[in-house]
Amino acid sequence: MNQDELKKAAAFAALEEIRAIMPGAVIGVGTGSTVNHFIDALAASRLPLQGAVPSSEASGRRLAAHGIPLVSLDEIGAGFLPFYVDGADEIDPSFNMIKGGGGALTREKIIAATARRFICICDASKKVATLGRFPLPVEVIPMARVQVGHEIARFTGSIPCWREGFVTDNGNHILDIAGLAIDDPRALESELNQIAGVVTNGLFARRGADVLLLATASGIERSERQG
Ligand code: 5RP
Repeated sequence: MNQDELKKAAAFAALEEIRAIMPGAVIGVGTGSTVNHFIDALAASRLPLQGAVPSSEASGRRLAAHGIPLVSLDEIGAGFLPFYVDGADEIDPSFNMIKGGGGALTREKIIAATARRFICICDASKKVATLGRFPLPVEVIPMARVQVGHEIARFTGSIPCWREGFVTDNGNHILDIAGLAIDDPRALESELNQIAGVVTNGLFARRGADVLLLATASGIERSERQG
């Protein structure tokens, strides 16, 4: 199986995971090529959903093209989404993740925070012992980009790279920090968020995944976060 076929297998496994969903439920749907397979499978499944909250304009367009109603978080109110299904750029053994390769990290984090269960769907290449081989994205307010870049360099020792030409769905910029070996993801997530001008960063440690569906050459490995 090639990487795309593995992504597709993980997406189909997520469908099985949520199959017992209550009629009329709303789920959170992430962003990326793995999630695109999930959206296509969801549309074909005819699960009795009321709709989905997408983490990006691109996922929203794909859901809508399939006739799946889009729901805003305002409509959810104080309630919780039963599931949030999304991919990751890296995931470690404690289910901490780096996300945001597609630049949707802020909306992903917002929706993940409102979900009872975060189901992470990945191909096996995303499983790592220590986060940081994949450059860590940081969404920044455009006027603060240079200052935030200097601050990150001082703090981490790594000069971040501006994802030039890319603008997030929120109208912001992305800095990618390469060359990290992240021993304490929770601490780094919090510390980066303290820099003025940072909207959020792509570490999902304070709210990591609950379930991992990892597609490997020998099948789907399902595991749940311990503790
Ligand atoms: C987008 C993300 C994606 O989940 C992550 O980049 C994985 O993408 P793909 O499924 O295409 O490998 O965080 O912001």
